[in-house]
Amino acid sequence: MCGIVAYLGDKQAYPILVNGLHRLEYRGYDSAGVALVTAGELKVYKCQGKVAELEAHVNGQDRSGTVGIGHTRWATHGQPNDVNAHPHVSTSGDLALIHNGIIENYAAIKEELLHRGHRFRSETDTEVLVHLIDDIRSSENMDLPNAVRLALESVVGAYAIVVLDRTNPDMLVAARKSSPLVVGVGENGEHFLASDATPIVEHTRNVVYLEDGEMAVIERGKGLRVLNMRNQEKTPFVQELEMHLEALEKGGYDHFMLKEIFEQPRSIRDSMRGRLNLAQSEVVLGGIKDHEQRFVNAKRIIIVGCGTSWHAGLVGEYLFEDLARIPVEVEYASEFRYRDPIIHEEDIVLAISQSGETADTLAAIEMAKSKGATIIGICNVVGSSIARVTHAGSYTHAGPEIGVASTKAFTAQVTVLTLMALMIGQRRGTLAASRFHQLINELDSIPAKVEKVLANDAHIRYIADIYRNATNALYLGRGYTFPVALEGALKLKEISYIHAEGYPAAEMKHGPIALIDEEMPVFVIATKGASYEKVVSNIQEVKARKGKIIAIVTEGDTVVKGIADHVIEIPGAPDCLVPLLSVVPLQLISYHIAVMRGCNVDQPRNLAKSVTVE
Ligand code: AGP
Ligand code: GLU
Repeated sequence: MCGIVAYLGDKQAYPILVNGLHRLEYRGYDSAGVALVTAGELKVYKCQGKVAELEAHVNGQDRSGTVGIGHTRWATHGQPNDVNAHPHVSTSGDLALIHNGIIENYAAIKEELLHRGHRFRSETDTEVLVHLIDDIRSSENMDLPNAVRLALESVVGAYAIVVLDRTNPDMLVAARKSSPLVVGVGENGEHFLASDATPIVEHTRNVVYLEDGEMAVIERGKGLRVLNMRNQEKTPFVQELEMHLEALEKGGYDHFMLKEIFEQPRSIRDSMRGRLNLAQSEVVLGGIKDHEQRFVNAKRIIIVGCGTSWHAGLVGEYLFEDLARIPVEVEYASEFRYRDPIIHEEDIVLAISQSGETADTLAAIEMAKSKGATIIGICNVVGSSIARVTHAGSYTHAGPEIGVASTKAFTAQVTVLTLMALMIGQRRGTLAASRFHQLINELDSIPAKVEKVLANDAHIRYIADIYRNATNALYLGRGYTFPVALEGALKLKEISYIHAEGYPAAEMKHGPIALIDEEMPVFVIATKGASYEKVVSNIQEVKARKGKIIAIVTEGDTVVKGIADHVIEIPGAPDCLVPLLSVVPLQLISYHIAVMRGCNVDQPRNLAKSVTVE
């Protein structure tokens, strides 16, 4: 969940590290720190708070040196305070270490190390690593790479680590297991290490993704060595990054989230590019071509994901059942993996993840894989762990999503799911040629329709202003828009801290209706389609209890307009494509309410962008 960055080269390390930490801050932001070797001395600066606070803290102090490590934390063990911030330093004062992940057996290791005279300063699980490595290095008289390797043999848990050694400022040692780590290969023998490519892209496009159980040893003058835990060396596979720097900037918007919401016409288009062929009336998904037949023959599809990706999966359930007539189960990855689920070899497991690093989703994949299922990924981050462990997959091509609240990744996921369901439906013959043709043309017009929804932002902002002080909110949808209601509620709660719940509209009368009074805003997706009349009845039920209705309606609707307190119009579309349009006003409502309440929309409290712990 945290961000790791490190540098060894001929440039000054500090500006590179701090800049990198700013780029990584979306991953975790409760405290930050750097360690440098400055003229033979280990300098460690760290403090609670954001990277900007670290910069203020370091200001005026000596921060020279051409090697260093930096960290922005998302606390798992111990409060976010100055002492628990990384880097952590060994008792000898020689080693500094940064860590992303959790050391599960830290208590036992700590006890042993305390007996051996090590002094612990923090409450973190991480600190055991630096003492353990230092202990092995001095007692076994070993070099740093071997000491790191040996230490990791006794560790249970997940980690990406980088170790800096005061006594040898020409070396950095890194290792990973279940937490991502990328090496950047720069100019003049310089190297970067980072949790993801965002801090690297402005320096070099050449990267090496470390695999689980691999170590990277970077040495001045000697370059990069990649080793496995049996000390066997392998030739690093250098890849070229596709990421562009502009994608990591706010580009004139106040927040990344707003920029990402407004990018959706483009990101949806990019998710379809080269896949939707109107002239030939076909959908081509190159990434799953080799597994297409298994998909077509699948007896069942199991979709796994977390949070917003799980909501996209729920839309996928409606899509695959409607268009391809394959039974679908949608599972929270965290529940699925511990339930000993029944999985058959003919099952397709679809794993959805923006980051491609979510620990629960990764673990669910491994489990399903071990039972022989075919695993197809839908990921946004190219080269991410999930993209690499799945048998096949389709990238969403939404571009980097920096705001912690997922927006454009959701619509890109739903776009890819729609393409898959259309393709499989066509191959299985469950979709008549005429309907297939109509739907691919409608899908092609979605980016322009999202543009129209976004043009309504001022009106949406006006509505947000009216409800900015709400303490609760309800979101209702039916059929294809039920998952959108869940997603709308998640958006509001995660960035504005207003309690919100999403429900299938008809379920309201089985309980949540008790909450409704004149203070309660109820957001209802009431677009024209299969359940329209039913939803209108649900709106009447809310109005009868004096609730406030904000309805998302199809352009030109007069019926709901006559009952609701406010309406937000969206262009008409077939039911199966309405999620792509109806979620947009809900994203904007949440964004504006959060800004009006003074919340940090891009970095909401307690959250982190990629959840790499279970
Ligand atoms: C979305 O707004 C959330 N921040 C969160 O629920 C997220 O969708 C979830 O953690 C899954 O992440 P992933 O898509 O990167 O796997
Ligand atoms: N478990 C470590 C801690 O709480 C690392 C957390 C992280 O990944 O940021 O300090």
